[in-house]
Amino acid sequence: MTDTAPTDHGTPDPETLRERALTHLVTARDRTTLLTSCVEGPDLTGQVSPLMSPLVWDLAHIGNQEEQWLLRAVGGQEAIRPEIDSLYDAFEHPRSARPTLPLLSPEEARRYAADVRGRALGVLEAAAFQGTRLTEAGFAFGMIAQHEQQHDETMLITHQLRKGPQALTAPDPEPVPLFTGPSEVLVPGGPFTMGTSDEPWALDNERPAHRREVAPFWLDTTPVTNGAYLAFIEDGGYDDPRWWTPEGWEHVRRQGLRAPLFWRRDGGQWLRRRFGVTEAVPREEPVLHVCWYEADAYARWAGRRLPTETEWEKAARWDPAGERTMRYPWGDADPGPEHANLGQRHLRPAPAGSYPAGESPLGVRQLIGDVWEWTSSDFTPYPGFRAFPYKEYSEVFFGPEYKVLRGGSFAVGTVACRGTFRNWDYPIRRQIFSGFRTARSEGGA
Ligand code: AVJ
Ligand code: FE
Repeated sequence: MTDTAPTDHGTPDPETLRERALTHLVTARDRTTLLTSCVEGPDLTGQVSPLMSPLVWDLAHIGNQEEQWLLRAVGGQEAIRPEIDSLYDAFEHPRSARPTLPLLSPEEARRYAADVRGRALGVLEAAAFQGTRLTEAGFAFGMIAQHEQQHDETMLITHQLRKGPQALTAPDPEPVPLFTGPSEVLVPGGPFTMGTSDEPWALDNERPAHRREVAPFWLDTTPVTNGAYLAFIEDGGYDDPRWWTPEGWEHVRRQGLRAPLFWRRDGGQWLRRRFGVTEAVPREEPVLHVCWYEADAYARWAGRRLPTETEWEKAARWDPAGERTMRYPWGDADPGPEHANLGQRHLRPAPAGSYPAGESPLGVRQLIGDVWEWTSSDFTPYPGFRAFPYKEYSEVFFGPEYKVLRGGSFAVGTVACRGTFRNWDYPIRRQIFSGFRTARSEGGA
């Protein structure tokens, strides 16, 4: 079987790149502005959880990264406020220490981020998009738009963790008919191209493209739903060590976990808290806020397993008819609202089986958007990986302590989500917008 690389659309012309960078930078800033203006006082400057930064830290950090890469590295400009760099360096101060730092006030942070943005648009206006790897095809602009959209997701997690009344609203996804397709599909074995070398704004850990062999396997057509996860709970899944790895078992015992984060049992009913509102757990929606240990245990209980990262990417990119690797499950087109639930248009996943226009050629749905999907894989570099433009984006995180998540959630922007995009976190984390789907090898579990 042969495999051609994804269609090379050629590098877009400078005006298209400029327009694209501007669109994603503006989209990110609109969201940042909303997320940092719908609450005030301690909700903006304080800490809702030791896992999260104060929102006002994220805001100035977004501005500071933009200043460092777009104004200084690309634009050759002097630092605006060199004394604040260390305050907003994620590696100098752990999240738990950030509220006690002499941070910029909300007003100062807004003014600083707006000042940087004004100058960055000037750099963008004059950019030639060639010369160095940082400027080639507008990489630095794409990287900074992705960085801000990633922090928009982080800030949305902070909002979800915050106690107190609702501050954000969004329309629900369009209702869809109950999904009646097959529950799993067979993904054929054989090679495919994993990662990318020609996606201009792909980050270092997605590179380079390389061939991988995959044995045939079965994959769930949709993410695991709340209803399916409830069956695991009601079958005593949290009390049965057979389903858990030793570390997972120890973790659920020690922490007393009984259900996904934000769930609570009230009489005979399961309720959840979502952005300040308590509601019944909707059965058809993909399960959210589970850790890797929970996803792994559910899969074992179901007689299945989590997909490997390689299997996930093959399912998301392989077109068996064309025998080629694509950018997205639906083809090479950038994501539109018909393909996937992305960009905080909705503040929840869509019911399982939504977005038929976004399905893969094999009929797998919602690989992109809705919920980040845990895979069984550790976060490791691809063969030929080179850190770019800084080691602290990916390289310092490689190793067995992090598990890979794929596909993006409803909270992530379109520019920060691709068939090749890799996210990672500790296996105990569940404040993130994480869910999963399950797999099995062709002949068994
Ligand atoms: C890729 C989501 C794990 O939030 O820690 C933001 C993204 N890196 N600023 C993170 C990131 C630097 C990163 N994740
Ligand atoms: Fe950051």
